[in-house]
Amino acid sequence: MRKYLIFGIIYFLLLSACSKQDTTASKADKFVNDLMSKMNLQEKIGQLNQCTSRWEMTGPAPKNDNIQNQLDNIKNGKVGSMLNVNGASETYEAQKLAVENSRLGIPMMFAYDVIHGYKTMFPIPLAEASSWEPEMAKLSAEVAAKEASAAGLHWTFAPMMDVGRDARWGRVMEGCGEDPYLASIFSLARVQGFQGDDLSDDYTIAACAKHFAAYGFSESGRDYNTVDIGSYTLHNIVLPPFKAVANSGVATFMNSFNIINGTPATANKYLQRDLLKGEWKYEGFVVSDWGSIEEVAYHGAAKDLKKAAERCLNAGSDMDMESDAYLPYLKELVAEGKVDENLIDDAVRRILKIKYKLGLFDDPYKYSNPEREKERIYNEENRSAARKVAKRSMVLLKNNRQILPLSKEIKSLAIIGPLANDKDVPLGSWRAKAITNSAVSLLEGVKAAVSPNTKINYAKGCDLTVGERSFLQELTYNNNDRSEFSEAIKAAKQSEVVLLTIGEDCWQTGEARSQTDIQLKGLQMELFHAIRKVNKNVVVVLMNGRPIAIPELAEKADAILETWFAGSESGNAIADVLFGDYNPAGKLTMSFPRNVGQCPIYYNHMKTGRPTPSGNVFWSHYTDAPNTPLFPFGYGLSYTNFTYSQVKIDKESYQLNESIKLSLLLSNTGKYEGEEVVQVYIQAPSASFARPVKELKAFKKIKLAVNEERKIIFELNQKDLGYYSPEGEFLFESGDYNIYVGTNSQEVQKIVVSFIQ
Ligand code: NOJ
Repeated sequence: MRKYLIFGIIYFLLLSACSKQDTTASKADKFVNDLMSKMNLQEKIGQLNQCTSRWEMTGPAPKNDNIQNQLDNIKNGKVGSMLNVNGASETYEAQKLAVENSRLGIPMMFAYDVIHGYKTMFPIPLAEASSWEPEMAKLSAEVAAKEASAAGLHWTFAPMMDVGRDARWGRVMEGCGEDPYLASIFSLARVQGFQGDDLSDDYTIAACAKHFAAYGFSESGRDYNTVDIGSYTLHNIVLPPFKAVANSGVATFMNSFNIINGTPATANKYLQRDLLKGEWKYEGFVVSDWGSIEEVAYHGAAKDLKKAAERCLNAGSDMDMESDAYLPYLKELVAEGKVDENLIDDAVRRILKIKYKLGLFDDPYKYSNPEREKERIYNEENRSAARKVAKRSMVLLKNNRQILPLSKEIKSLAIIGPLANDKDVPLGSWRAKAITNSAVSLLEGVKAAVSPNTKINYAKGCDLTVGERSFLQELTYNNNDRSEFSEAIKAAKQSEVVLLTIGEDCWQTGEARSQTDIQLKGLQMELFHAIRKVNKNVVVVLMNGRPIAIPELAEKADAILETWFAGSESGNAIADVLFGDYNPAGKLTMSFPRNVGQCPIYYNHMKTGRPTPSGNVFWSHYTDAPNTPLFPFGYGLSYTNFTYSQVKIDKESYQLNESIKLSLLLSNTGKYEGEEVVQVYIQAPSASFARPVKELKAFKKIKLAVNEERKIIFELNQKDLGYYSPEGEFLFESGDYNIYVGTNSQEVQKIVVSFIQ
């Protein structure tokens, strides 16, 4: 009886939750339909227009830079959204122009690239993914949304879920690395963090799944370059993260700059109308990327801006960011019968619905609140969250002789390197409103952590760059000023251990920051050799936003800690790890190549017909370097040791509808409490289509005390084991599957299972 009562209550609660959602949905529909019935065509087109404020540029400068014209457009209801306006009072003023002057007073949506924090900087997304804890990405997005929403923003252009296989591409820092499964899980967590459960909540903002699609596959890693991938890669590698967030209610999508099969993504009907809005039934809207409608003509796929507008609207690009293509041409295109007005209505309806969900029709100024802005932004609580995420994002790449963790009582410590006392680089690229030079430097973090008796010997050694460095500028590297070497060598001689802090400038990564040379730039390796000559205890602390090629460092340094660009609390978080307050547990989500010639290098590659040495040269290899990476996907050390034993499956053969139960015993056999990311990969050795050598399908991060052991269980079903055909059909086939479990993509134990029909 009690059981029925409980079922009854659950059923009732579910019903009322569903009907609450339905009522909100139908209220939104009703509101939007009423509003649209009052709008003329020009006003509808205005909603599809997004322009940047002139305070900040995140793309090429607008050609038509007439501010008065922009103000008039806002007042006349010809701007549906603005990007790069932020701050409670700035957004208030801008909103007022639209709401108080336009005929229908429709509020604008304010968007900004809040990628890894608004003012409190979290680690770059690639670093957060290295935590293998989606909860960290969620927390970081939650705090970013809390700050951004208090600064009047409604919408972030994040998360970026482009799979990145080529370390030359500067934008790998914005993504989750080379694996589509991880990208799906982390993107879902970020969307949840930004949007919460209710977009109208004043702590949340709308998210944007970008870049749809395949932007990460630009040839030779050069940003904005041609993409030429097959539909098999598109369906299996590129699309899964997008599908995952589309299904889970991400508010918006952004398309991409690249072509796919000869058609620019922005003008791509298959992707936007057929797949996203058709097959996947996506209800949010699609914004173009900056100028990407105009760029359809530059690609040579439209004769002019008007034709580009026609192609893109018809293909399903709902909002025009900074091309100024829809505003001048859509009305004419409707009159000429080239664009169906119903398609414009569909785009407007999608946009207005998101504005409704954000609560902008109840109060257009609800996010522009100076009090909240003061309280919520860059406060202690947010900074402590940033420190938590930062330390969990770091990856220990090497630790010879267990040189780490260091004792806080160490007598003397040299802190050397161009980035050792840098307070700006750790903030990373895409830093929204971070204050320049506001990060805790490594030097500051270490000083705060060690005993007052520790003698710190600091010397920069050399600069990484010379001259000005900024978001909009190319960098110049220091290749010849060695004047500070001698001081660094002296500091190294006088100290027990050296912390050498080297890497990249943060402006070496991010949009438009592709590089052909991914080694350490300037004099950094020379400095390393000079230091190493006089001190044999060199711990390298790396700061960088992409995998870098460091074979010599990997061989000769005693320890290497990858800290990425760790954000506002960088120095404190690094100290947490160096001195063992936190035992590192991060693992790489992008393979580190031995040299740039191996790029793109990724663990989930296909087999070749000649994968193994053949007794002579005729097999797939390089003659001057191994095929394997320097550090593989999934790799990362801990201060303790973990052993894997009793790896088993519950049966040897399964029916197609059954799940595999995989179990293992994980033991902490080292001297510290620690966490291990247990990884499960699969491979189908003989399917209808060739399959990758390994694919990540599950993982768990497990914390164990010293000597503790725990049985870990994974379940895999046909959803995990199946794949897409080149036509996009999901296939799950009978036959043998290899299941691999282990500590990274290379060190695994294998079990074979069979699925029978
Ligand atoms: C271009 C970038 O590709 C995109 O990611 C960004 O959101 C927009 N510019 C707006 O800044």
